[in-house]
Amino acid sequence: MKKSYEASWECPSNIALVKYWGKKPGQLPMNPSLSFSLKKAQTKTSVRIEPASRRKVEFLFEGKTSFFTERVEKYLAAMSLEHDWLNNYAFYIESENTFPHSTGIASSASAYGALALCLVDLKQQVTEKKFTTQQFFQKASRWARLGSGSACRSVFSSFALWGRLEGFPNSTDCNAIPVTEKFHPAYQSLRDAVLLVDSSKKQVSSSAGHEMMNEHDFKDVRIAQANSHLRQLLEVMKTGDHQRFFQLIEKEALSLHALMMTSDPSFILLQPNSLAVIAKIRAFRQQTGLAVGFTIDAGPNIHLIYFEQDKQMVHQFIEGELLSLTENGDWLDDCIGNGPRKLNG
Ligand code: PMV
Repeated sequence: MKKSYEASWECPSNIALVKYWGKKPGQLPMNPSLSFSLKKAQTKTSVRIEPASRRKVEFLFEGKTSFFTERVEKYLAAMSLEHDWLNNYAFYIESENTFPHSTGIASSASAYGALALCLVDLKQQVTEKKFTTQQFFQKASRWARLGSGSACRSVFSSFALWGRLEGFPNSTDCNAIPVTEKFHPAYQSLRDAVLLVDSSKKQVSSSAGHEMMNEHDFKDVRIAQANSHLRQLLEVMKTGDHQRFFQLIEKEALSLHALMMTSDPSFILLQPNSLAVIAKIRAFRQQTGLAVGFTIDAGPNIHLIYFEQDKQMVHQFIEGELLSLTENGDWLDDCIGNGPRKLNG
């Protein structure tokens, strides 16, 4: 007689420094990307499974049914084609975020990361097969990728690389890998202040955005650019050339938006205040000589990237000069984190 099982995991979101934009069939990336995991922005998910004659899903987000229920059902249906054991259980899933929705933090990355970790954990229990730590997280990264591409980078602490990068052993399109290069220690103290310029729903979903890369005039150039940026960034992070580091990550963020602006149809997701925040950050860097810069995801909100040692001055700058440009003075302060954590379910 089959038993019931339970798994609970907490998984962070991540912020990309080199952006994943455009995909090949099977949710494989057109170009490699690099991100760091956040610390405070986490999704906590518990999955209980009970034997059933066919797969059934009940999903509660923060105690309520949500739009995500349908996505989780579709995800499990797709996964069950390859993993038959998923068809023999009823899934009772409860999930919550430690950060508010639509705040410029990719909630799908932490959500699919946490769900995939629970599923791999359950697979171990159901099959009574113990994976090595490396196998466990590699599998979780693959399963997370199938939910949302960028989620595959969330199951590791600090820096994760997703996508095949020539000359970088073990890099693959199928899952992210932890980056164990010996970086300058400053990069272990990176912080991400998310300045909320506009929390309204995005005009274009990331799936539609990825799709537009298939026919994009700059597709080949973008793939070459991302590979080159990634290679340069990995070198710069070893030497600790902060000036070049910020040049590269800003160029990445602005290239992502340039690609959206020049796609067919075209989208402009930056708002006037996004540009005003960028101008202020650049002026502040020039005046103070501090190592600060920004990145941006596929939306109007600006992620101010800085180092722990400059926290006090950067917070003063945010409060004095940037909050008037944000929606209701809203911002979130996060930093590089330690990756996912198994919870006692
Ligand atoms: O994982 P998706 O399909 O939501 O795509 C995310 C794409 C960006 O956030 C814009 C970039 C990235 O690498 O995270």
